[in-house]
Amino acid sequence: MDKFHRNKTAIRIKVISMGNAETGKSCIIKRYCEKRFVSKYMTTIGIDYGVTKVSVNGKEVKVNIFDMAGHPVFYEVRNEFYKDTQGAMLVYDVGNRESFEALDSWLEEIRKDIGSAADLEGVVFAVCANKVDSRKRVVEEAEGQLWANSHGFYYFETSAQTGEGINDMFQTLFKAVLTAIENGGKPVQLNASTNVGYTKEQAEAIQRLKTAKDNYERLGLPAGASREDINRAYRRLAVLIHPDKSLAPGTEDAFKALVNARAALLQTHR
Ligand code: GTP
Ligand code: MG
Repeated sequence: MDKFHRNKTAIRIKVISMGNAETGKSCIIKRYCEKRFVSKYMTTIGIDYGVTKVSVNGKEVKVNIFDMAGHPVFYEVRNEFYKDTQGAMLVYDVGNRESFEALDSWLEEIRKDIGSAADLEGVVFAVCANKVDSRKRVVEEAEGQLWANSHGFYYFETSAQTGEGINDMFQTLFKAVLTAIENGGKPVQLNASTNVGYTKEQAEAIQRLKTAKDNYERLGLPAGASREDINRAYRRLAVLIHPDKSLAPGTEDAFKALVNARAALLQTHR
């Protein structure tokens, strides 16, 4: 195949970066594309855009990278760029808990602006726990891994400064996007249990018990569910996340929260 023809047939994919300001999104991209690190902070204004050619599974791929500004004032600029996204890096700073807790609102933002639930289903997400070189880490690996797992996302420990995890993260993301394209747009399902000792379902249940606003939500029930529903949901979850069965971080606390949630709800149903 001649060069001209090969270029014409190169696959194009669209990847975006998401996450709070100053978490290191631009630096991760710069580390990958330019193999360098800049320690001075230059906030991204709106969106930065670049194309890079990579080889994935022996195929030439043109990656269009949209590097989003994390600051809330740029929401109006960002929201138009979510459409047609195939891969997304969700970046937080392991030295800044707020940036980790913001991941849910980033997911909410893309969900709102990408178009449809089916479009969101097709996106491959890679969570980047960034700045792992830093000495003041406050979000531990297990916590980040659990969040990623509960959503079925990839998880990587990264440092734009040292380069740790960056190539691995991009290669995995690009490969998964290509596989999704080859499978007609459906991304591969990650099997969490093969490498972390717990399943996606367990991670989801634990995450929900941790963050739910009330006891009904903890049990995955609508407000006002019956006594029978409460007991049924409790039994199912108790089997699922029993500390003998789950190696996920936070299992014991989640199990206690489950027992307490049921007890409190049954009291109101007497
Ligand atoms: P916005 O464009 O404002 O949304 O920020 P951003 O997420 O693109 O952050 P950026 O890449 O500009 O990096 C923010 C600051 O963090 C800069 O001062 C970087 O030098 C620093 N930084 C980025 N990655 C790392 C890292 O892995 N380790 C350390 N120690 N510092 C980092
Ligand atoms: Mg930036």
